Amino acid sequence: MNAIQVFEFGGPEVLVHCTDVPVPQPNDNQVLIRVKAAGVNPIDTAIRQGKMYVKELPYIPGKDAAGIIEKVGRNVQSFKEGDHVYTARSMTDSTYAQFMVAEEKSCWHLPTNYSMADGAAIGIPYFTAYRVLFHKLGAKAGQTILIHGASGAVGIAAIQLAKAHGLTIFGTAGSKKGLELIKNLGVSHTFNHRQEGYVDEIKTAASKLENGIELIFEMLANINLQTDIELIAHKGKIGIIGCRDFTQIDPRLMILKEITIMGITGRKSTDAEISEAAEVIDKGIKDGWLKPVIYKTFPLALASEAHREIIETTSAQGKIVLTVE
Ligand SMILES: NC(=O)c1ccc[n+]([C@@H]2O[C@H](COP(=O)([O-])OP(=O)(O)OC[C@H]3O[C@@H](n4cnc5c(N)ncnc54)[C@H](OP(=O)(O)O)[C@@H]3O)[C@@H](O)[C@H]2O)c1
Repeated sequence: MNAIQVFEFGGPEVLVHCTDVPVPQPNDNQVLIRVKAAGVNPIDTAIRQGKMYVKELPYIPGKDAAGIIEKVGRNVQSFKEGDHVYTARSMTDSTYAQFMVAEEKSCWHLPTNYSMADGAAIGIPYFTAYRVLFHKLGAKAGQTILIHGASGAVGIAAIQLAKAHGLTIFGTAGSKKGLELIKNLGVSHTFNHRQEGYVDEIKTAASKLENGIELIFEMLANINLQTDIELIAHKGKIGIIGCRDFTQIDPRLMILKEITIMGITGRKSTDAEISEAAEVIDKGIKDGWLKPVIYKTFPLALASEAHREIIETTSAQGKIVLTVE
């Protein structure tokens, strides 16, 4: 089969498009998926560099995908050949390929009115956003949340989930198009995190809220954590999922406000938490309020371009996806 393989850690150029990779075979509890689209996530670039979750070489990258069931293991109950599915969080991952295996519990049905690119955009972003909002921040209807980095894949998932659960949303983006997009998705107060003075604008808008900004969903803590500590309300909670360097903060404000700062990873979700999130995601798909936004697609062979784009873009507008023939 065709697949992207990494033989040495390094820049985007180490993503090699190979045409002679053996098709993996599912065990009794797994399915074989003919991948039609694979999600590109920022973590894929850190793994490729050998900086996080170091893999044994060579490996096939990728964590989420959508496709068609090609074969099912003997114990698999929920799927049959030909079903459209999306997958994430499988022990086997390796989604940048024509075929992949996944455990039954890591696959969910994808309705046929959702494209394969849509399916590939659900896995990591929506399960992560659900975990942050409900399992960690304890988000409730009527609260106000700041999504600091709302224009990317996880940010958009967080907007849709928070809106469907009755929160008021402040959101930031770094471009005019990103700001338009998040406003159209239901963010009531939008701010440009690349524009000088935007933090003061948030403070002014927050001062008009009865309870201030009670929750913050942070995508880039090395840049924003001290600002978040200044913006959050008394007893507020900050959930961090992204950080690219060290940072300095003033813990005195944390003490004065009795705030909570949490580092969060989707990897620590339990099976029960995943099942709960999957039910809400399924309901969102059926009710129509959950719809991924695709920013750009690249053919599988151009995975290296997709990796450059996801790190270098200054105007995210949803998820980056690889299409697989
Ligand atoms: N912990 C976990 O389990 C987990 C899971 C998934 C993702 N993540 C991490 O979460 C982050 C977001 O993931 P993603 O898939 O949404 O990535 P993405 O699609 O590339 O989006 C990145 C987001 O960060 C925004 N951003 C850029 N500069 C910013 C700044 N100074 N302040 C605030 N936001 C800024 C971007 O906005 P503009 O482009 O509009 O400027 C965009 O909205 C990444 O760091 C990723 O590694 C963690």
